[in-house]
Amino acid sequence: MPGKVHVIDHPLVQHKLTLMRSKETSTSTFRNLLREISMLLAYEVCRDLPTTKIKIDTPIATTYAPVLDGKKTVLISILRAGNGILDGMLDILPSARVGHIGLYRDPKTLVAVEYYYKVPDNMGDRDAIVVDPMLATGNSAVAAIDRLKESGPRSIKFVCLLTCPEGIRVFHATHPDVPIYTAAVDDALNEKSYIVPGLGDAGDRLFGTK
Ligand code: URA
Repeated sequence: MPGKVHVIDHPLVQHKLTLMRSKETSTSTFRNLLREISMLLAYEVCRDLPTTKIKIDTPIATTYAPVLDGKKTVLISILRAGNGILDGMLDILPSARVGHIGLYRDPKTLVAVEYYYKVPDNMGDRDAIVVDPMLATGNSAVAAIDRLKESGPRSIKFVCLLTCPEGIRVFHATHPDVPIYTAAVDDALNEKSYIVPGLGDAGDRLFGTK
C-alpha cells in the first residue's frame, strides 16, 4: 500500500508559496514567508496529536481541560534548509525538542552522505516531525529517516514545502509508513535534480548564499 501524502491546500499557504516561488522575492522576504508558512503547516501536521485532560482552576471554576499528551514532540531538521521550517514550527511548538541531521548530496552520485547527527534522549517516547523544504530525489530524506528509525521514535512524519512524483515514489518505496505533508506536488525533477517549477535552491534562497 502506498504511503500517505497530505497536500495542505489552504489559501494562505498557497498564497505564501507563490510569493516564495517568485525569483523576484528577496532573501529576507523568503525567510519570513518560510517561517509563516511553517507555522501553518505545523498546525495541520499536529492535528492528530494525542491529548489528555488535566485538572485546572480557572478564575471561575475547577475543570478538566486537554493538553498535549506524552513526552515533548521532537522536530528533526535536515540541515541546512530544514532550519527554515524549524524556526516557524518552534514558534507554535515552543517546548518541542530539536534534533539535527546533516547530509550532503554527493554531486556525482547524488547519494546522501551523513556529516552530523544529534537527536534528544528517550526517542522511543516521542513523536518525530522531520523537516526539509524540498523532497526532490528523495535520497537524503530516505537516508535521514533510515538513520532516525535507529532511535525508534513513537511515530514519524515528514514535512516539506514542495515535492514531486519522483521524490514521493522514492521516499515511500522505502518508508511507506511515514506520511508526507507538503504545500504542493510539482511536475517533475529537471536534469540537475531541481524541482520544476519549484522555487530554486531552498538553502541558497533562505541564507542568501547565491
Ligand atoms: N533542493 C532544492 O533546494 N531545490 C530543489 O529544487 C531540489 C532540491
